Amino acid sequence: MGLNVVILGPPGAGKGTQAARLARQRGVPKISTGDMLRDGIRDRNPVALEAKALMDMGRLVDDRTMIAIVQERLTRPDTAQGFVLDGFPRTVDQAEALDSLVASHGNGPLVIVDVKVPEDELVRRLATRRICESCGTTAEPVVPEPAGCPVCGGTLVQRIDDGARVVIERLRVYAESTRPVLEYYRNRPVFQVVNGAQSPECVAQELESVVEQASVVPPPIRPVAE
Ligand code: AP5
Ligand code: MG
Repeated sequence: MGLNVVILGPPGAGKGTQAARLARQRGVPKISTGDMLRDGIRDRNPVALEAKALMDMGRLVDDRTMIAIVQERLTRPDTAQGFVLDGFPRTVDQAEALDSLVASHGNGPLVIVDVKVPEDELVRRLATRRICESCGTTAEPVVPEPAGCPVCGGTLVQRIDDGARVVIERLRVYAESTRPVLEYYRNRPVFQVVNGAQSPECVAQELESVVEQASVVPPPIRPVAE
């Protein structure tokens, strides 16, 4: 049975950081829609280039485009043992589409984890985050800031959508479009919450333990036909 995890949380909650760790640990791919779009922009992919204006403003890319991207990604063989999703679903329509995709993917249920972090901490993290201009890696949040990308040595820069004004818009869009996704999932036994306002190591431990717990939740009992 595969391990299919969805990591939810506002901008700066640490979804990408934790998704990468969990995916590495479990040997399944991390599927980050934000990273896929940013990689696409670097590769001059037309769909990603069209999405760029919305991303730079802190708005969501349309559901049809995002669902098509994830649908294609989930057909690749490396997802056979599962995946860790970061940044998808972000709307209730995307969540409904994901349920259908997972049902047809047929390798186990979803585990949904919401990473909670207070807003002032989100704003602080996004203001100080640096990513590599060449490969997109997020630098570890250490003081003093590293001189270059730990992976390729490239120049570290601020993400375009991490400017103060765009962050306010991203938080607004999260509250308006993505919070309802939490309600969509909240009553499922596989829905879990972790405290994201701890060190990355502590968050990872808590995440690992709730994923373990949720993956042994028995399927809902179906009434037996008379
Ligand atoms: P996306 O890239 O998904 O951005 P986001 O959701 O706003 O989240 P972030 O990547 O900013 O934060 P994160 O939670 O991953 O935190 P991270 O681990 O980096 O999406 C970007 C855009 O693409 C969207 O605005 C939209 O336009 C478009 N898009 C993407 N998916 C879409 C979809 N499904 N539908 C429509 N549009 C879509 O951590 C943040 C910082 O904090 C880092 O510096 C990190 O090192 C640090 N940090 C992490 N954990 C901790 C910790 N525990 N303590 C201290 N610091 C920490
Ligand atoms: Mg991210």
